[in-house]
Amino acid sequence: METLHLTDSPADLAVAAKLLAEGEPVAIPTETVYGLAADARNEQAVARIFAAKGRPQDNPLIVHIAAWEQLLPLVTEIPAHAKALAEKYWPGPLTMIFKRSEAIPASVSGGLDTLAIRWPSHPVAQALIRESGCPLAAPSANLSGSPSPTTAARTAADMDGRIAAIVDGGPCEVGVESTVVSLVGDVPQLLRPGYVTAEQIAEVCGDCRVNEAVTKPLKAGEAAASPGMKYKHYAPSARVILLDGSPDASIDYVNAHAGVGVWALAYDGETEGLQVPFITYGARNDEAAQAHAIFEALRRADELGAQILYTSCPRAGGLGLAVYNRLLRAAAFEVIEL
Ligand code: TXA
Ligand code: MG
Repeated sequence: METLHLTDSPADLAVAAKLLAEGEPVAIPTETVYGLAADARNEQAVARIFAAKGRPQDNPLIVHIAAWEQLLPLVTEIPAHAKALAEKYWPGPLTMIFKRSEAIPASVSGGLDTLAIRWPSHPVAQALIRESGCPLAAPSANLSGSPSPTTAARTAADMDGRIAAIVDGGPCEVGVESTVVSLVGDVPQLLRPGYVTAEQIAEVCGDCRVNEAVTKPLKAGEAAASPGMKYKHYAPSARVILLDGSPDASIDYVNAHAGVGVWALAYDGETEGLQVPFITYGARNDEAAQAHAIFEALRRADELGAQILYTSCPRAGGLGLAVYNRLLRAAAFEVIEL
């Protein structure tokens, strides 16, 4: 299949919207990462998403909407916390989990009786939802297991030849996927950290529980609250290893383990004394910059031939938790205490 490369011009968006309405998957920009979108109501279109990504069937998708009227038919109820969060953070990088109605095929949510929904703020994503007339199921537009793409070029590297079209809307602003919060229980539960933090959710709802799997591997046989958490994820080909220790101790450790293919992923301005090649991804105290750059840095490391990529542990709070969670998974939880 030849993949069309489209711009965000009105004429190109009309082409993309038509493909979506016809049940073809199209990669689209959002403010978080590029998504691989298809009509969420069309079982065959949804099957094409899973096929193009090589995604396990039990890993549920997020449905993207661009109007309140689109939400109501998809869910059985809208809890008060969801209303309050939506008022504050929609449109934006927040996904909420509701009880699912029958309007969406079960395959979209991997057979679960819940449904993840997000109202993205990116104008191109909104235009395509409106013009196609479809609520759009859209996972990140990477091959399953790889780092999420934050540019059209990275999307093309994974998806060329596998889908109908890619719409280029420039680089994604946030850079990590949306925050996923479940509102099905009494207390909001954070299943995936993102730009909207657990602290901000607690401010609106009075409380927010962070699911254990955000920072810990699932135990053997344990069921995942969010099926995506049980898979290897966000991983470049390089072996990522997290170092938990002071900046000096980390640099010493990396230098002591220098060798062919050994690289470091470092904070801006903290590379002095490093004796291995490095990539930087934002200043230590600038978590928004880290989030924006992290996936691109992981893909770049592969391009440059890194085989081992050492990096330090980000802060496990605020937006740092999102960066920490992605790096932990990219490292398959390999952390060395210094
Ligand atoms: O920012 C984003 O959320 C991007 C853009 C394209 O919107 N999308 C995205 O989708 O990251 P995906 O499929 O790569 O990640 C969705 C995550 C997975 O970890 C999945 O397991 C979880 O959300 N999820 C989806 N539906 C769920 C549900 N009903 N219950 C629990 N977890 C769910
Ligand atoms: Mg993903």
